[in-house]
Amino acid sequence: MDLFQAGPDELRSLRVNAPVHLDENTGLWLVSRYEDVRAILADPNRFHPDNALTAVTAIPRPVLRVLARAGFSLPPTLANNGTDTHAELRRLVAAFLTPARVQAMRPRIADLARERLAGLTGPIADLHPVLARDLPAIVLMEVMGIDDVDIPKLKAWSTASLELFWGNPSLDRQHELAKPTAEFHQWLTRRIRTARGDDLFGALRDVPIREAAGLCYFLLIAGQETTTQLLCAMFDAVLRHGGLWSRLGEPGMPARVVEEVLRRDPPVNTWRRIAAEPTTISGVAVPAGAHLLLMLAGTGSDPEVFADPERLCPARPNARKHLAFGYGRHFCLGAGLARLEAEVVLRETVERFPNLSLASPEPPPMLGLLSFRAPLSVRVRLGEPAHPAPEPASGPSTGHDGDPALTASASRG
Ligand code: HEM
Repeated sequence: MDLFQAGPDELRSLRVNAPVHLDENTGLWLVSRYEDVRAILADPNRFHPDNALTAVTAIPRPVLRVLARAGFSLPPTLANNGTDTHAELRRLVAAFLTPARVQAMRPRIADLARERLAGLTGPIADLHPVLARDLPAIVLMEVMGIDDVDIPKLKAWSTASLELFWGNPSLDRQHELAKPTAEFHQWLTRRIRTARGDDLFGALRDVPIREAAGLCYFLLIAGQETTTQLLCAMFDAVLRHGGLWSRLGEPGMPARVVEEVLRRDPPVNTWRRIAAEPTTISGVAVPAGAHLLLMLAGTGSDPEVFADPERLCPARPNARKHLAFGYGRHFCLGAGLARLEAEVVLRETVERFPNLSLASPEPPPMLGLLSFRAPLSVRVRLGEPAHPAPEPASGPSTGHDGDPALTASASRG
């Protein structure tokens, strides 16, 4: 099986036939059942996160030299940190992502979406460059108080980094990717060293520079590339699910649909851990030091937990039980922000283009990295825009989360 392209059929087959399976090509132990994956994530003493950011395709010496010359390193900070420093570093970052700070971004996200939607003329458009590519990066920089990053450059740096660490690049390609990766790290190091204010860089002024740069490197990639992927996965999934688009105006619908997409098509489709001691998972003996690949995408479609899992079902009572954002000590710090961005962008898009549909039933090209999977484009037929164009979104929140009317209306479809 090609792990870089594993789709629903492969995930189902693993879950049913080989829930704990040693993949000979990568040496990774694939763990596929929901209960096993959650138990592993919940037990940081027996399952360490140290390999979370290790390059999947080994980086050979000449390429390592390019990175080393630039001072590049990824010491334990957040996702890859099983040591005592994790809690304090997590606290520093969490202060930028409190529920109040995240909710305060709602009108700004809506404005960003509306500006972009207003510029769209049909009949066909690709929603990836318009709504998904840059918007999460702009939002993340604003939440972190950073106002001097060139967004196209950040995207080039971060997509190169994802491919270098989670892709299967050739040696030549690794050389190409090392340059922007090193450049990003150097930019971060300079910015942290000269930080003055109360932005993310300033908040890290007492953290040793190697750790601070490594933390920012991870955060400024993880905090926006994943949301870009979620936005594409969301549009693609909703538009393939007959009739769902026209129901998005129902109270609470966008947020619930986003949750279902996270469950069934999570952009972070796998995540890694190391077994600290010999252990048994679903009856299979796993040695100490084994590198585990937790098949997050497969867990969201585990019928033991989610009935009729392939269906996007906005009224699903346990939809938020999914593991798309991990679980336990390392649970994603940006889950609230990612959910909000997706919900608002979806809501604004359906308001502006109520008759939007996919331009073609063909499956889209997919980003195929070991831990990241999402459509690379979402080509749509826009249909007639709603008139008049909606008002700017600076007014009160239009969120309807938890509306009791939803369950009844959604279960009709
Ligand atoms: C759809 C979007 C996103 C997905 C699917 C996602 C997924 C994940 C996953 C699977 C983990 C590992 C959790 C674990 O080991 O248990 C994680 C960790 C993390 N994510 Fe996200 N993420 C998303 C968006 C974001 C955003 C927007 C931010 C920041 C603004 C962010 C920041 C982090 C951080 C800092 C960690 C490490 C937490 C720790 O180790 O304490 N993520 N995320």
